[in-house]
This record gives sequence, C-alpha cells and structure tokens, in this order.
Amino acid sequence: MARSHNRVKVLHGVNLDMLGRRDPEHYGTITLAELEVKVKRFARDLDLEVTFFQTNHEGEFVEYLHRLPETTDAAVLNPGAWTHYSYAIRDALEMTAVPAVEVHLSDIDSREEWRRRSVLEGLVIRVVSGEGPDGYRHALEILNERLGS
Ligand code: DQA
Repeated sequence: MARSHNRVKVLHGVNLDMLGRRDPEHYGTITLAELEVKVKRFARDLDLEVTFFQTNHEGEFVEYLHRLPETTDAAVLNPGAWTHYSYAIRDALEMTAVPAVEVHLSDIDSREEWRRRSVLEGLVIRVVSGEGPDGYRHALEILNERLGS
C-alpha cells in the first residue's frame, strides 16, 4: 500500500541547470537530467515519490517555496549560490515549515570562504555537502526517517 506522507520535492537553484558544463573538479560531469534519473532511483528504493524543480530566477524559487506545503511532505534543496546570500529564500523556507535537507554536490566548507556560510542555517534538518550525487540519497534517507512509515 502507498504511504500517505512520501512526497518529496527536489529543488535546484541558480546555475544547477548547467551541470555537466561546470567545473568537473567540484561538480563532476553529470548533467542535471542524469542527476534527476539517479535521484528518482534513490527515491524509488525508499518508497518516496520525488518530483523536481529548477530555476535561475530567485522570485520563482521563492514562489515555489510558498506553495510547498500544499504539494509536498518534505524537500531537498540545493539553491546553488543563493545558499550563501538569499535572505528572501531563507524567509520563504521559514514560512513553509516543510522538513528540508540542504544538499551541495561540492564540499562547500573546503572551498572559498564565502561558500562556508549558508543563510538556511537553523531551518534545515541537515546540510549534506561534498558527497556528490550520493548526497541526494543521503538527504532522502534523512527525510525518510523524519517522515516515518
Ligand atoms: C553548490 C555550491 C554552491 O556554492 C555553488 O554556488 C553552486 C553549487 C553545490 O551543489 O556544490 O552553484 O550548491
């Protein structure tokens, strides 16, 4: 029988649509479409129903967050560079009050100083950073535990 609380949105922010053409040292060579196929597989293993959204427009990301409580039980967020400075995204996430895990493909703590800070601090259950695509599996496992069965 399908679980009642198993809907997870995976939100990608600015420049994540360019995966595959970004610095492979930090992001590997995987494209966003390939990453989504992987994440779908991770989700299926956990009996989670996953859907995806990506935008390069901050206002669209914010409006998507506004609607989250109506459409999902949990969220995986990789806001890209907005992570480090968008208080608008922080405020929107705070309003949604949907359980969320923040994911970064690269290890944000071992890169430039400005990447070490996330404005989402305190709002997300966990930050998963530097695990590449497997970080999304990790994030889904954390959310799966939170959602229960
Ligand atoms: C990123 C890390 C951010 O610092 C960067 O701006 C990105 C991608 C990551 O997935 O490693 O665009 O969120």
